[in-house]
Amino acid sequence: MTNNETVTRKYSFSNKTIDCFFNAKFSMLEELVKKENTILITDENLFAKQSEKFSGWKTIVLKPGEAFKNQDTVNDAIDQLIQLQADRQTFIVGVGGGVITDIAGFVASIYMREVNFGFVPTSILAMVDASIGGKNGIDVGVYKNLVGVINHPRFLLYDNSFLETLPHEEWINGFAEIIKHACIKDARMFQFLQQSSLADFKSSDEAIGKLVQQNVEIKYNVVASDEREAGDRKLLNFGHTIGHAIENTAQLQHGSAISIGMIAACAISEKINNFSKEDTEQIRSLLSQYHLPVTFNIDKPGT
Ligand SMILES: NC(=O)c1ccc[n+]([C@@H]2O[C@H](COP(=O)([O-])OP(=O)(O)OC[C@H]3O[C@@H](n4cnc5c(N)ncnc54)[C@H](O)[C@@H]3O)[C@@H](O)[C@H]2O)c1
Repeated sequence: MTNNETVTRKYSFSNKTIDCFFNAKFSMLEELVKKENTILITDENLFAKQSEKFSGWKTIVLKPGEAFKNQDTVNDAIDQLIQLQADRQTFIVGVGGGVITDIAGFVASIYMREVNFGFVPTSILAMVDASIGGKNGIDVGVYKNLVGVINHPRFLLYDNSFLETLPHEEWINGFAEIIKHACIKDARMFQFLQQSSLADFKSSDEAIGKLVQQNVEIKYNVVASDEREAGDRKLLNFGHTIGHAIENTAQLQHGSAISIGMIAACAISEKINNFSKEDTEQIRSLLSQYHLPVTFNIDKPGT
């Protein structure tokens, strides 16, 4: 893959085939949708940092971050869709991190009982994980993703130039899911990550482009083989049971919570499944190498 070559892939699920454009340009969106019928949904941070990309597009700009992944924000988005006279022909495109793709997919799935939608994921986490697999939804209080739907977008458009403004801590955040994918499905990628550094990926459009595509394929293969999470898809929850429990209560970033959750899961597996301490150590060391937290202090009640 060279720096300017778009790679196109089709991914099929039981009820939809989605087009995926890697290493593409945002301007390609004009070939995928009718501009006059399209409404972009993004958040204030991305809109401020990449305003030129949104120029000429009808855009709904939502409050950023996990704290706003809730019903109030969904209501706000729906009000704005009504003001923009969105109808069944409207195409919604979520342009942003995982919070925006989760909300945009949910809003598109319920507005007028479903309108077409696509995603332009702009954080590493959304590129490799949140935008793939069809899960869309919102939090209710501290309960993560309590309300939502499973519905796939029509397309995923990857423009790596969005990453130029992604804050450093969000790069770190995204690598938690990349390391999770390596742990559950790809020992060679695990070794490759051991031999590389975050700086290597931040400085090379080609390196991050390849890594993103590899991770999309891992997630797609797992989801396509088990769309309803009866078997293999549960592997994607590695680190998420404990991770989700602490993410909103301790207000951690998703990736940090999942990193801590993976080490906690390893520790539990050492006790109940004879998971090897050496493997835990390798995972801990790789997470630390990518600047992710591996410990968490809580005040136990009564101590
Ligand atoms: N649906 C799924 O299968 C799935 C899977 C994993 C995670 N998720 C969800 O994804 C969410 C986390 O995603 P996230 O980490 O991307 O969070 P996020 O959407 O909040 O993005 C993180 C921050 O980066 C900013 N940002 C995003 N792209 C940017 C860019 N290119 N330049 C500048 N700033 C940018 C955002 O404004 C935000 O402040 C969580 O809600 C999690 O539950 C969903």
